[in-house]
Amino acid sequence: MLVIALCKGRYLEPSLSMLSRANIRFPEDVASSRKLIFDSEDKRFRAVLVKPADVPTYVEYGAADVGVAGRDVIMESRADLLQPLDLNFGHCRIAVAGPEGAHSINGSDHPTVRVATKYPRITLDYYNTRGIPVEIIALSGSIELAPLIGLADRIVDLVETGRTLKENGLEIVEVIAESSARLLVNRAGYQTKREEVLGMIHALEKVVQCESSI
Ligand code: PRP
Repeated sequence: MLVIALCKGRYLEPSLSMLSRANIRFPEDVASSRKLIFDSEDKRFRAVLVKPADVPTYVEYGAADVGVAGRDVIMESRADLLQPLDLNFGHCRIAVAGPEGAHSINGSDHPTVRVATKYPRITLDYYNTRGIPVEIIALSGSIELAPLIGLADRIVDLVETGRTLKENGLEIVEVIAESSARLLVNRAGYQTKREEVLGMIHALEKVVQCESSI
C-alpha cells in the first residue's frame, strides 16, 4: 500500500480529483469528513490529510511515500525528497509586496527592511542574496495586514488572483518564484516501492498531459 500525504484546504479537492482521474479513488467524502486517514477503493493507496506546510516533512521522513504540495511549501521546507511531476494546478506566485507605489528596495536606500511572512527561509534567502538587511516578522496568516498597521514595510506571500493585495491597497514589488502543485516522493521509497511509485507517477503524468492538451 502506498501512503499519500494530501494537503487539507484549497489543494484537497483538486488533488482528489486528479487522483480520481488517475484511477485512485477514495470511497468516502474525504473533503467533508473529519477523519484523517482514508483507504482507496482498491486498497492500494492510503491518503493521510495534513497541513500544507507539513506535507514535505511526512514524505521526507517516510511516514508517507508520496505527497502533493505546493512548490512554495517545498522551497520553504528544504526537505530532501524527489519532485518528479508538476501537477499543473494551484498556480500562484511567491512575491514581495508593499503599499501601492512602493518601489524595489536596494541595499543603499534602506537600513533594515521589516518583512512579514509565513516563508521566513525564502524571504531571508531573497534579501540575503541582494545584500539587503532584513528583519523577518514570522506570521501564519492574514499577512497582508502587517504593512497596513505598521508591523512591516513589506510582505512575502502567495499571490493567486491578486485580489487580496488589491483590496488591501498593496501591490507586487517583485515576484520571487512561480509555484504550482507538485508530486513529492520519498527517496528510499522510490527504490523500495519502485513499481508502485512509478505506476502512480505515470498515471498522473497521463492525466496532466491530457489536461494540458485540451
Ligand atoms: C493566501 C495568501 C494570500 C491569498 C492570495 O491566503 O496568503 O493571502 O491567499 O490569494 P489571492 O491573490 O487570490 O487574493 P489564504 O487564503 O491561504 O489564507 P491565510 O491568510 O490564512 O494564509
